Amino acid sequence: MNNNVFKNLSYGVYIISCKDGERYTGCTVNSIMQITSEPPTIALSVNHNNYTHTCLDINNKFAVSILSEDSNPLSIGTFGFRSGRDFNKFDSIPYNIVNELPIIKDACGYLICEIKGKFETSTHTVYIADVIDGDILNQSTPMTYSYYHNVIKGKSPKNAPTYVAD
Ligand SMILES: Cc1cc2nc3c(=O)[nH]c(=O)nc-3n(C[C@H](O)[C@H](O)[C@H](O)COP(=O)(O)O)c2cc1C
Repeated sequence: MNNNVFKNLSYGVYIISCKDGERYTGCTVNSIMQITSEPPTIALSVNHNNYTHTCLDINNKFAVSILSEDSNPLSIGTFGFRSGRDFNKFDSIPYNIVNELPIIKDACGYLICEIKGKFETSTHTVYIADVIDGDILNQSTPMTYSYYHNVIKGKSPKNAPTYVAD
């Protein structure tokens, strides 16, 4: 199989946020898709080893910050290459609280989601979630995964669903 064909699938770049009981945490993801609009439902794939996975299992509510081409790429690295297990990611990234969850300040939109079901794969859990609130925050162009790779020159870490070993 030609693994490069997966690079032709399109995605956005998002930051998931949730609570670990006491504090806010979360991670960068590309794997969000809308499943249906009635009721508004999305799917999200999270690696079993991510701390965010542990938090989603104890707390079934999460937020999605939709990043734009004008969002600070530092957030992608902070949330995508470090673990919230031993580090408070929100200490260095500006955010606003919406519906009791943190939304990245320079995101172009957000969704507030409640997990309704999940499906297991060998490495990732696919969560199915109802979208209970959402809004557009500014008119910046939403960041695509291709923009992240080709313009920002960003990499995909091991726990991203799109990761392929060199
Ligand atoms: C651009 C990008 C996309 C990513 N997409 C996903 C994803 O869809 N699912 C996932 O589980 N991890 C994804 N990751 C990896 C997690 O963000 C990363 O493993 C993070 O350090 C997990 O943090 P945590 O342990 O605090 O949950 C992505 C990372 C980057 C940089």
